Amino acid sequence: MAQILAGQHILLCVGGGIAAYKALELVRRLREAGAQVQVAMTAGAQQFVTPLSFQALSGQPTRTSLWDHAAEQAMGHLELARWADRVVVAPATADLLARLAGGHADDLVSTLCLATDAPLTVCPAMNHRMWLNPATQTNVETLRQRGVQVVGPEDGPLAEGESGPGRLSEPEHIVAALAGTALPARPSLPLHGLKVVVSAGPTYEDLDPVRYLGNRSSGKMGFAIADGAARRGGEVVLVAGPVHLPTPAGVARVDVRSAAQMREAVFAAFPADIYIGAAAVADYTPRQPAANKIKKSSESLGLDLVRTPDILSEVAARTEGRLKLVVGFAAETENVAGYARGKLQAKRLDMIVANRVGIEGGGFESDSNAMTAYWPDGERAFASAPKTQLADELIDLIVERLQA
Ligand code: C5P
Repeated sequence: MAQILAGQHILLCVGGGIAAYKALELVRRLREAGAQVQVAMTAGAQQFVTPLSFQALSGQPTRTSLWDHAAEQAMGHLELARWADRVVVAPATADLLARLAGGHADDLVSTLCLATDAPLTVCPAMNHRMWLNPATQTNVETLRQRGVQVVGPEDGPLAEGESGPGRLSEPEHIVAALAGTALPARPSLPLHGLKVVVSAGPTYEDLDPVRYLGNRSSGKMGFAIADGAARRGGEVVLVAGPVHLPTPAGVARVDVRSAAQMREAVFAAFPADIYIGAAAVADYTPRQPAANKIKKSSESLGLDLVRTPDILSEVAARTEGRLKLVVGFAAETENVAGYARGKLQAKRLDMIVANRVGIEGGGFESDSNAMTAYWPDGERAFASAPKTQLADELIDLIVERLQA
């Protein structure tokens, strides 16, 4: 299935109706579409399906109560409400719709829905007479007017042997409806109103029509950073070297190949507020790529290489339209802190993020990494963690530095 919800954090709130069993399938479909899913259930929902079933499918603990101390300690309900990029209520029963319309906060699900500022989608499911009752229709209209997306219900046979509008939309329809609506602007997010340009991946410098000089950068860190910045409300342009990674939701992507093309695309994206140079840009490129395939003849072959433009230094040196924050990366095999601080100064950066490459379980091709960020009068070490988590922590630091 296409990763149409790649990287999105979806909080699924399950209401107490027989259609709760279909919400299990919805979790599976959301994850197939690339989303991370956490599930919260009402007390009624637990009469139909067990929390364990959702836990098995979501890969995350299922939340069932506001008063669960252990769960609250791991991730408080307000934190969970903030974690979500979208909140989906499925099935949304008549009672749950009434309580959402009324702004109740007397259990976990209603509190989460009230506390989040993420867009809310409700997927009603109930007996058709309950659906058609003016009380329910008024509640749904109230929610619509508040900008809540309503998906379904569909018409057809209902649980009690009757037929009419009230069936929960099929999980694939719900996923399609979520994918079809872009994440709306959220002024409360810390990067709202800021343009962020991120470079990611390697560059390929062509030697001839079939060969190139490249490097082992996977692009994963830069893509995770672009994703994190978009989820914090930034307008993100991702300039990507040759990688096979899905484009994060809400990110404008420009694919390039060489250092020269990357430079052009980065400058074309300006003016911007923040530049994060996570790409592993080639330092040298052939002076003149051969027009035809280079033939093997002599025992050795020398390459005539010239320096590429240092995109990061050029960005940092801009005096007109100086960016608010310019962040570079440094992959080092030794003396990480020394070289990183040297680059911070030499390239006149606001921050440099350094990591040690060439070690087991970190660096270029790995999914996780350990790194340290340096700025002129401080530093912060990030413990080894998946790149997606590191990217989130790094964006939080960037937000802090912006406000410093
Ligand atoms: O000096 P070094 O190449 O180690 O610096 C790495 C940082 O500089 C990275 O942030 C990388 O994106 C950036 N860079 C650049 N243009 C180059 C070389 C590196 O923007 N030609």
